[in-house]
Amino acid sequence: MKSYIQIKKKILKFDKVIKVSGDKSISIRCVLLASQAIGKSRIYNLLESEDVINTLKSIKKLGINYKKIKNYYEISGFGLSSFNTKNKIILDAGNSGTFARLVLGLLVDSENEITITGDKSLSRRDFSRVTSPLKIFGAILKSKDNQLPVKIRGSKFLRPIEYFEKLGSAQCKSSVILAALKTPGVTEIKAKKSRNHTELLLKSLKLPIQTSSSKYYDYIKIKGQNNFGSFNYSVPGDISSCSFFLVLTLLSSNSKLTIKNININKSRIGILKILNKMNANILSKNKKIYKGESISDLIVKSKCNLKSINCPKNLNSSAIDEFLIIFLAAAKAKGVSTFRNLDELNKKESPRLDIGIKFLKMIGVKVIRIKNDIKIYGNPNLKLSGQYVMKNFRKDHRVFMMSCIAALTLGGKWKIYDKDSINSSFPKFIKILKKLGAKIN
Ligand code: S3P
Repeated sequence: MKSYIQIKKKILKFDKVIKVSGDKSISIRCVLLASQAIGKSRIYNLLESEDVINTLKSIKKLGINYKKIKNYYEISGFGLSSFNTKNKIILDAGNSGTFARLVLGLLVDSENEITITGDKSLSRRDFSRVTSPLKIFGAILKSKDNQLPVKIRGSKFLRPIEYFEKLGSAQCKSSVILAALKTPGVTEIKAKKSRNHTELLLKSLKLPIQTSSSKYYDYIKIKGQNNFGSFNYSVPGDISSCSFFLVLTLLSSNSKLTIKNININKSRIGILKILNKMNANILSKNKKIYKGESISDLIVKSKCNLKSINCPKNLNSSAIDEFLIIFLAAAKAKGVSTFRNLDELNKKESPRLDIGIKFLKMIGVKVIRIKNDIKIYGNPNLKLSGQYVMKNFRKDHRVFMMSCIAALTLGGKWKIYDKDSINSSFPKFIKILKKLGAKIN
């Protein structure tokens, strides 16, 4: 079967209401926490993508049953000691850094050795960022060059830690929080601000967790070894998946889109702040709070006069997965946009800073890079007519999706490889584009 798609025409005007799939971060957290609850939890609107399926398959290997019933997943946990681990279990995290890093936190008390493996892309990524703090709890972790496979053997004598998370990584913060759940005493974390879904979920489960924030940091105290009951959760739409449709609409002509039920947690809305600073005027409607998470419909219209942005560094973490699509918006905006301190971007599923710059240059956009800062020279009249091939981007789902949006809004004849990459976060991506009228073969 061919692994590429072809796009030869720009998308025509549309005016539609859509829903995107459930949030990936929250889906993975819900499955992991349900595996530690006592009783049967129900998760509605769970994202059915490879990253989440790998999470489900892995908890099954660890002794937890789950089944899909109608429109929800039922997960049967039996408390904090749920993982009934047998020797030599291997968990395949596939492409998911979130699952791999978070599950290590839950395995700090595992009696037997568990090995975490992953695909080529995940196997290139750094795991010292979680293995270092987890070792301080007392778990034994082994890996070569701090990369997968990582082996973990837990300890019966865990001790709470004081941990300073400096990268702004929610995966590291969450891994430590989950390890703290298993550990007697109070673990204290000071973390550079990042998404706080784990904290909100634990609060909604009435666990003893205290949080406070300053301008740049989150402070978390969590008392461990408290069992909790099963729960029901309805996962809101993923703003990262939504972001491709926001930019699709902004860069198309005379179009309008309403995207229903999107998670607009403060720690995730960098994309909205950045696009609105660029003149996008994205509106939110029907706002509500659900278990601490803010949710709303988003309304976006085409915008031919986007302007450049001097992006404040403190928005980086709340837009961390959206920079590729933001770069595309900047390429079509009037003026020179500046983005700084993007070193974490090169540590994702692919080196997204390097690949993003290469992509912009391929479509004729001037970019200047100094270390991890970039300047994008936008051109509101940017139109493409040549032939473009996107290949060799380490099967990064977000590179694939950004390339589709470029093809559908800028023109040219495109061949974009590795279409299966979308299965890790957003399998319905192409189906929704087609619903809006995109011609994709
Ligand atoms: C995630 C955190 C972010 C993000 C990833 C999902 C999470 O990674 O890029 O897609 O669910 O905690 P980092 O924590 O490495 O920044």
